[in-house]
Amino acid sequence: MSKEESVAPRIHALIERAQARGKELSLTEITELLSITTPPELDLLWQAADWTRRQEVGEEIWLRGLLEFSNVCRCNCFYCGLRRDNTLLPRYRLTEEQILEAVGRLSRLRIDTVVLQSGEDPYFTAESLMSLLQAIKHSYDIAITLSIGYRPKSELAAFRRAGADRFLIRHETANPDLYAAFHPDSTLADRVQQLRDLRELGYEVGSGCLVGLPGQTLSDLAADIALVRQLDVDMFGVGPFIPHPDTPLGDASPGSVSLTYKMIAVARLVLRDVHIPVTTALSTLEEDGREKGWTRGANIVMPNATPAPYRAQYELYKNKRCIDDTLEHCRGCLERRVKSVGRVIGQGRGTSLKLARRAVPV
Ligand code: 5AD
Ligand code: SF4
Ligand code: FES
Repeated sequence: MSKEESVAPRIHALIERAQARGKELSLTEITELLSITTPPELDLLWQAADWTRRQEVGEEIWLRGLLEFSNVCRCNCFYCGLRRDNTLLPRYRLTEEQILEAVGRLSRLRIDTVVLQSGEDPYFTAESLMSLLQAIKHSYDIAITLSIGYRPKSELAAFRRAGADRFLIRHETANPDLYAAFHPDSTLADRVQQLRDLRELGYEVGSGCLVGLPGQTLSDLAADIALVRQLDVDMFGVGPFIPHPDTPLGDASPGSVSLTYKMIAVARLVLRDVHIPVTTALSTLEEDGREKGWTRGANIVMPNATPAPYRAQYELYKNKRCIDDTLEHCRGCLERRVKSVGRVIGQGRGTSLKLARRAVPV
């Protein structure tokens, strides 16, 4: 092996320490891991993340059905195609009947989680969302994740009582200045407070961030991992930023897929027993992104359960994967892909292992 191809002793020692005691890594050490670029060092990082994933969360890959029930949004995030100023996008809202039908399809395919996702759409009041949650729980034995953006704590408490099990709200970036630059309608502090409130209310909580926002640095990304370590989230989703032409960031460069894999791997080493999805954005930029993500630390995938023709209109960015495929087709496709990396699809809800450990201290 030539000198260029070998692993620097410092990096070797750091990856070994991350594998054994990743929770203890400093911000500087996390940044250093994210800076790795040589193929042998990356291989070592992937192996350490894969080993840790096996130890901490096992061989199952869990399916979460993503049901995008409204693409109306009152916010104006600079990167997002659903932003309120994007008047070129046709808007839709699914009826309760359409939502229940889509949940029925998930249930028949043994996908035991539905993620109810929407823009921040005030049309759905606390009352209407509570009655929707109750209607789903009445007919189906399925875990419900809400991903509906900001809601006051009193509403979050009411949703929990009405049957919501989990809540997903990405902090997007842990750099407050960067957050402020791209989110005119909210602050990072409020996001973080909502994540804390959700934990207190007994939700399984998911956060996440974007990779490759203009101006974002490797230390910003290290801070993303450190923030979710501190918040002790149950799930952490990382996806590359994909510029949407009808937004203010339309001409920016997309986020790097290789940096996204590094974020997945380092997050696994630092956060240990957390759920980590391969995001649709990653698989949109790279055809085998799911397989690579699953062998570099991830253990979740979110097949799209939104019925046609609405699926195409949930246009966070263009050319989203699986736009023309049915849920049934995607279920089969994912089964094959999961098998191809020697793993199994989880049976049941795939409740957070962290939650189980929180409930029964050992
Ligand atoms: N590229 C990648 N991800 C995006 N999101 C929104 N717009 C984009 C984009 N252009 C992500 C945000 C949000 C999630 C629902 O989708 O991180 O939290
Ligand atoms: Fe709305 Fe979410 Fe898009 Fe922001 S990222 S504009 S809150 S849908
Ligand atoms: Fe949708 Fe493969 S997961 S076609």
